[in-house]
Amino acid sequence: MKLYSRITGTGSYLPPRRLSNADLAAELATQGIETSDDWIVERTGIRARHFAAPEVCSSDLGIEAARRALQAAGVRAQDIDLIIVATSTPDMVFPSTACILQDKLGANGCPAFDVQAVCSGFIYALSIADAMIKTGAASKALVIGAEVFSRILNFKDRTTCVLFGDGAGAVVLEASDTPGILASDLHADGKHVGILCVPGHVSGGQVSGKPLLQMDGQAVFKLAVGVLDEAARATLAKAGKTAADIDWLIPHQANLRIMQSSARKLKLSMDKVIVTVDQHGNTSAASIPLALDSAVRSGKVKPGELLLLEGVGGGFTWGAVLLNL
Ligand code: ACO
Repeated sequence: MKLYSRITGTGSYLPPRRLSNADLAAELATQGIETSDDWIVERTGIRARHFAAPEVCSSDLGIEAARRALQAAGVRAQDIDLIIVATSTPDMVFPSTACILQDKLGANGCPAFDVQAVCSGFIYALSIADAMIKTGAASKALVIGAEVFSRILNFKDRTTCVLFGDGAGAVVLEASDTPGILASDLHADGKHVGILCVPGHVSGGQVSGKPLLQMDGQAVFKLAVGVLDEAARATLAKAGKTAADIDWLIPHQANLRIMQSSARKLKLSMDKVIVTVDQHGNTSAASIPLALDSAVRSGKVKPGELLLLEGVGGGFTWGAVLLNL
């Protein structure tokens, strides 16, 4: 049995409709909501985001990312033996987006399930796939982060609706004789449910509560900065590495200021941090695999390099994965 798991291909997909801050500000102005490119850039680093068309679901974005990852890995869909989709914006209440995507892909038969850990979802999903490969339960996994966050945004709340976007990213993770994933570290603390949530549910066939995102931005900011640092250090320690060994930090793309703070705490120059939040906004579970794929395809991140992936999100959930590409 092979002892390790390794990423052998990456892929991503953004829906074609791109809105710059100015485009979004102009749309919001028609509803009497005031914002500006200056405010959004200064507070978040975001300059643009993509929004999916109304009929497009997370599985539609995820399938495109998955196909690109499979092509990059040189793996056929029918050889995949595990599919995990990280999403907080599933196509349906049930079945899982992973099952819907599996059928579209033609990889029917293998286990397929969703992971719900909001913006940490991809880190959770990657760690689970790694563990399943290491036990021999799977050998070729597709791990996908896919979101249509635009569906759960309150476009009357300017403090949140300017922050998020839609998109998907995917990796093929395969059993390997040489180490790819070196260590991971996952956490959650449910006492923070209220600071970032979509407090709605289906009851009697109706949506009860508020099915739109609400967030205490400053509380999230403070918590995120602390827990990301803890997860990064714990993961490095498990692998016997230090921050100085990292070639690239690929953080969850929520806010440039959170990323700058993470880098500062690890004494890493921003030149070693992959930043895509400026062009994608916060795509929740899709943000890390989207950032990874764009860095791989641009030639910035190269095979053999040491990457630290870190995520934080609603729950509160957080974690990190250290890997050799
Ligand atoms: N445009 C213009 N003005 C705005 C906007 C906007 N879009 N949003 C808020 N403002 C105004 C506020 O009304 C307020 O005005 P006032 O002083 O007259 O009352 C002022 O700007 C400052 O508002 P704050 O909420 O205090 O702004 P802050 O500096 O905290 O920035 C932000 C808000 C960007 C949300 C920040 O708290 C943040 O980045 N938090 C992290 C949250 C995050 O990244 N979440 C992503 C999801 S969680 C995750 O992925 C981990």
